[in-house]
Amino acid sequence: MGANDRKRWNEKHAANHGDDAPSKFLEEVLASRAWLIPPGRALDVATGKGRNAIYLASKKFRVDAVDISAAALQEARKTALAKGQAVNFIEADLEHADLPRGSYDLVINFNFLDRGLIAHMKKALKPGGHIVFETYLIDQREIGHPKNPAYLLGHNELLDLFRDFRVLYYREGKFADGGDGAYKAGLLAQKT
Ligand SMILES: C[S@@+](CC[C@H](N)C(=O)[O-])C[C@H]1O[C@@H](n2cnc3c(N)ncnc32)[C@H](O)[C@@H]1O
Repeated sequence: MGANDRKRWNEKHAANHGDDAPSKFLEEVLASRAWLIPPGRALDVATGKGRNAIYLASKKFRVDAVDISAAALQEARKTALAKGQAVNFIEADLEHADLPRGSYDLVINFNFLDRGLIAHMKKALKPGGHIVFETYLIDQREIGHPKNPAYLLGHNELLDLFRDFRVLYYREGKFADGGDGAYKAGLLAQKT
């Protein structure tokens, strides 16, 4: 990753003025466990246009939200302002980012897969902190994007990646979540 990746994502974001509704999976996981995951300090990795970071801010989390794309973050800042929510948006390449250790109560990762980053995300959580992670499964390439296996989870892979955490909820399969349906794996896990 690096300059090419930044350019590619800036072009994608500039061309696509997508939906700013938060992830259904995130909404459901938090709504059904509000008592377990009270507002605190949160990190949204690869925030894109900030839909999930802004949602967390509306639920009283103090949110840092990182993305490589300046174009995406510009829109994210506008949306946050329009919705009256404060989010600390940070432009950085997560491949080289130095995440603060033991700092967050909640880390979220949506529609993004950098296997090398997962150990850093785990370290960034406080003991007892939670992670909500959802991204595409290998089956997705049969019906849409992404197609590159580097960005697709194998069956049970997300579960295996969090074996050292307490997995509180896991699902994989094809889910509509308000759209046409996509193959995804999703997990809620706690750092022990
Ligand atoms: C499919 S979008 C997902 C955005 C957001 N998580 C969501 O679900 O709406 C993937 C995001 O990853 C970002 N990204 C890709 N490579 C990155 C990197 N190396 N460092 C930081 N962000 C990166 C892109 O700019 C893009 O916004």
